[in-house]
Amino acid sequence: MPTNVPAAPEFGQPTPFGEIHPDTLALLAKRRSSSPQHLAAPAPSAEQLNDLLRLAARVPDHGKLFPWRFIVVQGEAKAALAERLEALAKERPDADKAGSVLFKLKTPPLAVLVVSRVVEGHIPAWEQQLSAGACCQTLVLAATAMGYGANWITDWYSYDPRATALLGIASNEQIAGVVLIGTPTEVPLERVRPDIEAITSVWKP
Ligand SMILES: Cc1cc2nc3c(=O)[nH]c(=O)nc-3n(C[C@H](O)[C@H](O)[C@H](O)COP(=O)(O)O)c2cc1C
Repeated sequence: MPTNVPAAPEFGQPTPFGEIHPDTLALLAKRRSSSPQHLAAPAPSAEQLNDLLRLAARVPDHGKLFPWRFIVVQGEAKAALAERLEALAKERPDADKAGSVLFKLKTPPLAVLVVSRVVEGHIPAWEQQLSAGACCQTLVLAATAMGYGANWITDWYSYDPRATALLGIASNEQIAGVVLIGTPTEVPLERVRPDIEAITSVWKP
């Protein structure tokens, strides 16, 4: 399916400056994640997925390290992964729960793993990990803007060393998010939001 995502500016070319984007503001004001059980086929096309990853990689990143990478999981490979995770779940102390949450990976047609990849040097690891979180949320926003539903999860297999080994996660890497994407089948209802005043203070000297 073709996309109408504009190409990125060439390196060094001007970028949007002082423009108002009412659609973006409306999306940010109203967006909600879709429950994984309400994400069905079709998934974004290959071309749309390329665009989604390109948009997700346009996040602030101290030092231009690109301290993240993506793993796309879909189709038969996703079913095979779920099967192997099911086997690992059985060996866990929380076997029943670990097995039952796998529906979140199994149901949506597409999962994109955002892997935080900490690069040695003077940029703190924390900042590099925050940049990976920004990738996750940008992916959620971009998929929603394309008309899909999305949900950012982690679940046990993001942390279980046997599962991360299966996914090829290296020792300097961590799964920042498993972003599930599909066509929403149910309208997500608004959930509780924080009182901005309660979490905001004004610093005074
Ligand atoms: C880092 C991170 C990890 C999360 N992991 C899970 C998870 O494993 N399982 C889950 O049900 N929700 C998880 N969530 C929450 C979902 O993303 C949740 O559905 C979402 O925050 C709903 O809020 P929204 O509608 O404002 O997007 C996680 C959120 C974040 C930021």
